[in-house]
Amino acid sequence: MKKVILTGLRPTGNLHIGHYFGAGINYIKYQDNYEFYLEIADIQALTDNFDNPEKVKKNITEITMDLLSIGLDPSKVNFFIQSKISEIAELTVIYSNLVTVSRLQRNPTVKTEIMQKKEIFGNNGESITYGFLGYPVSQAADITAFDGELVPVGDDQLPILEQCREIVRKFNSIYSEVLKEPEQILSNTTRVKGLDGNIKMGKSLNNAIYLIDSDEVIYKKIMSAVTDKSKIKKDDPADPNVCMVYYYHKLIGNKDNTDIVCMECKKGLRGCVDCKKQLIQEMISFLKPIRQKRKYYEQHPEIVENILKEGTFKAKAKAKEQLQKIKKAMKIDYYDF
Ligand code: TRP
Ligand code: SF4
Repeated sequence: MKKVILTGLRPTGNLHIGHYFGAGINYIKYQDNYEFYLEIADIQALTDNFDNPEKVKKNITEITMDLLSIGLDPSKVNFFIQSKISEIAELTVIYSNLVTVSRLQRNPTVKTEIMQKKEIFGNNGESITYGFLGYPVSQAADITAFDGELVPVGDDQLPILEQCREIVRKFNSIYSEVLKEPEQILSNTTRVKGLDGNIKMGKSLNNAIYLIDSDEVIYKKIMSAVTDKSKIKKDDPADPNVCMVYYYHKLIGNKDNTDIVCMECKKGLRGCVDCKKQLIQEMISFLKPIRQKRKYYEQHPEIVENILKEGTFKAKAKAKEQLQKIKKAMKIDYYDF
C-alpha cells in the first residue's frame, strides 16, 4: 500500500516560478510514489477573501491549469475542491472542541498572517474572524480526512502542522487511536528570491515571474531586475553574486552558460542589458513547454472540469469512510438515518 501524501493550495492567484522550484518540482516526483491528494483549498482562501468569492472561483481553474501545465498527471494525482467535501467541514466542527482559543491565538503562523493582513484584521487583529482564527483546525481536518501521512508544506506552515498533530494526539487519547500523526515534508528548501532581491518571491511583493507571463511581461520584468548597483558602465567589472539576473541564470540555465556569465561579469566583459536579454530568451524557452501544455487545457476547459470532478469524487469517498471511522471512535455513530 502506498502512503498517503496530501497538500493544499489556496486558490488566490496564479503560480510563479517560486512555486515551481519551491514546490511544484517536488510534486512531480511524489506523484509516482504515493497516493496523492491535492486540495484546492477554496474554503481556506475564503477565510481572508470572504468578500471576494469571485476571485476564489476564478483561481480554482487557474491554479489547476497551472499545476497541470507543470506536469502533474491527473491519472496519478487526485485534484479536489475543498468546499465539495462536506466531511471536512464536519470534521472541523468536531475538532473545534479539542483546541483552545488561546492556543490558536498563539499559533505563530496565524499571528504573522494577522500582522500581514492589517487592512483586513486591523492593527491588533481586533477584527479577526472566528473562521480565520480557526483555519488551522480546518487544515487538520483537511489532512486527517484523508488519513494524510506526509504533508509537503513551506516552513511558514510548520506551526499549523504542529497544531494538527496536537489535535490528533488529543483525539486519540480521548477516543481511540484512529488518527495518524502527519509528518511534514519541507517543500521550500529552495526558496526563490524575487526580482528585487527580496528573499521571497510573492504576489504581494510584486516581484514575481508567473508561469503565465507573456514574452512582453517577462521582458519588462527582467529588464527591471536588480543588478550589481556599483556597475555603471558596460565594461565595469561587477559581482554577479549580488545580481538577480545572474541568480536566475543559475536557476534556469545550464552550468556552462552560467559559468560564462559569471566569468564575463567579473571581468567586465558583458553589459547588463545584453546579459538581461540573454536571460529573457532563456526564461521564455524555459516556460515554453509549460505554456504549451497550459494552452491545451485553456482550449479544453471541459477536461479541467472533469479532472476536478473525478478527483473530488475519489477524495469524497475516502473522506466519507474516514469520517465514519472517526464518528464510530467517538461513539456518535448512533442510529442509521
Ligand atoms: N495553508 C496552506 C498554505 O497556505 C494551504 C493548505 C490548505 C494546506 N490545506 C492544506 C497545506 C492541507 C497542507 C495540507 O500554504
Ligand atoms: Fe548582473 Fe549580468 Fe550585469 Fe553582471 S553583467 S551585474 S550578472 S546583469
